[in-house]
Amino acid sequence: MNATNNPKTTKTDNAGNLRLPLWAGFLLAALACAVVILLGLLATTVMERRWEAQRPAMVLKPLDAWETDNAKWGENYPREYETYLKSADDTTRTMYGGGDPRDYLEDDPYQVILFAGYGFSKEYLQSRGHFYAVEDVNQTARIKKPYNAATCYTCKSPDVPRLMNTMGVKEFYAANFHDLKKEVNNPIGCLDCHDPQTTALRVSRPALREGFAAMGKDIETVGLQDMRSLACAQCHVEYYFSPNPKNYLTFPWAKGTTAEAMIEYYDEINFHDYMHPISKTPIIKAQHPDYELYLTGIHAYRNVACADCHMPYRSEGGVKFTDHHVQSPLLNISNSCAVCHRWSEDEIKSRVESIQTKVADAMLRSEESLVKAHFDIAAAMQAGITEEQLKPIRTLLRHAQFNWDYISASNGMGFHAPQESMRLIGLAAQQAQEVRLQTARLLATKGISKPPKYPDVSTREKAFDTAKAFIEGKEPKLLP
Ligand code: HEC
Ligand code: HEC
Ligand code: HEC
Ligand code: HEC
Repeated sequence: MNATNNPKTTKTDNAGNLRLPLWAGFLLAALACAVVILLGLLATTVMERRWEAQRPAMVLKPLDAWETDNAKWGENYPREYETYLKSADDTTRTMYGGGDPRDYLEDDPYQVILFAGYGFSKEYLQSRGHFYAVEDVNQTARIKKPYNAATCYTCKSPDVPRLMNTMGVKEFYAANFHDLKKEVNNPIGCLDCHDPQTTALRVSRPALREGFAAMGKDIETVGLQDMRSLACAQCHVEYYFSPNPKNYLTFPWAKGTTAEAMIEYYDEINFHDYMHPISKTPIIKAQHPDYELYLTGIHAYRNVACADCHMPYRSEGGVKFTDHHVQSPLLNISNSCAVCHRWSEDEIKSRVESIQTKVADAMLRSEESLVKAHFDIAAAMQAGITEEQLKPIRTLLRHAQFNWDYISASNGMGFHAPQESMRLIGLAAQQAQEVRLQTARLLATKGISKPPKYPDVSTREKAFDTAKAFIEGKEPKLLP
């Protein structure tokens, strides 16, 4: 029934017993006014509270143009600072990631052989959170004494842009790591990603700007969503130290950011990080081309940024802010993945792990081929195969190992771009097998048809001793 036609609710019905006296009308009007005023007041306090919550109670303290102390920034931006401090948690573990510094060489002795003669065969730990960047680089066995390039500090601390400003960029790179130790104190922090005056995201590292320029792109023209990945691409990329100017940090992007484009670049400038002591192959160590690999994946294609997964938005008392606890998103699925994917947390996690275990499995198989390929070349040398005959085979092995390392050294066990990860591991395995086939043919020309006697490299210690024997010229006899 329509309420307006209901006689019982009509004031002017004939009985008149619902008609109110005049004073009551005024009272009602006054009450209505009071309610409106109260509601208005409530709304303003809510707004004010929000505003207060968004900005700290006090006026923002102006920050120095080169403020490197994260705690000082924290006085203005307590939420960002408090969440940032959580990156000190190094006890978390996921199937392949987390903050716990797991020992890759213990888990996978093949890598001791692949990096033989290079620092990574002595120590190779999974990275911890940003909070430990300075501590970890100061401690690692990979930093040489008494001299090591200061360039190694570049991706560790907001003191770096400050020092580059006072010393000059070239001069910073050319310095001795140990001479700058007392200047580099604050771990990766606010000044690395933000402008102190506006808090806008910014590029504080020249190598990224120069990497873009080498591709004919101008980094100053990119939009915010791109900056939410490029802030990370200042450090989470492939790089090398150019010898000229001395130890100048350079991204090998002039021909593009794919593994193929980088190999072409490195071959052209004839660059290698170390000479492999077993196969005498000039090896390029891939660093961690996280950004480059990510670019080939579905999420980059759909414009999802690093920060969307690793620094998702959070809400606290109605305030939305960016979670500065940069970590594995698997430890924070509800705020990251689940914002876009309406699957259960368990389903999301098992999907990621299923992608990762497939990549890990393929990777381990390709490593076996790579390790044997190094020994096959050593066997060919022992059989008297000439340097000239071995040269193209070594080039193939150099490419194979870089293709494998492009994925192996990247963080996330292939999740950032599953198809590209499998493609490159497949390519690496195929190239390594080609090396083995060609050396077998060369050995056959010397009448050797049996496989070489491969040393036992099944544990870290055995692998290390084998590598050491080759380095010291006491290599075992590999020919059958
Ligand atoms: C779609 C979400 C997503 C995007 C976008 C993304 N990542 Fe990841 N990232 C992941 C997942 C999932 C892992 C695997 C975490 C694990 O295994 O615990 C991961 C792992 C990592 C790790 C290793 C973390 C650990 O604990 O082992 C690093 C470093 C990383 N990503 C950096 C980046 C960078 C840099 C970018 C942008 C260039 C990026 N990620 C973009 C989801 C993402
Ligand atoms: C100034 C260089 C720098 C920048 C910028 C940077 N990182 Fe890192 N990141 C590092 C270094 C160095 C480590 C390893 C620290 C250690 O092991 O002590 C690291 C470690 C990590 C880890 C591993 C932490 C863990 O608990 O597993 C993740 C994830 C990560 N970074 C993601 C990102 C993302 C996402 C961005 C961009 C929003 C970013 N990083 C920006 C240098 C940087
Ligand atoms: C690795 C890069 C990185 C570091 C280090 C970093 N931030 Fe951020 N910060 C970001 C990103 C990415 C955003 C999101 C920007 C956006 O989407 O507009 C952000 C956003 C912010 C905002 C805007 C409000 C918000 O929460 O979204 C403030 C304020 C801020 N950061 C303060 C800090 C402070 C303080 C520190 C040091 C304790 C810090 N940041 C360290 C990358 C970083
Ligand atoms: C900002 C939104 C966003 C976030 C955050 C996000 N994704 Fe996605 N994801 C997408 C989009 C868009 C696609 C493309 C497919 C589609 O359109 O549905 C996709 C695709 C995928 C796929 C399918 C890939 C394929 O090729 O089959 C997986 C798996 C996936 N995401 C996992 C994750 C995980 C795990 C996380 C968190 C670590 C995550 N996503 C975070 C938007 C997002």
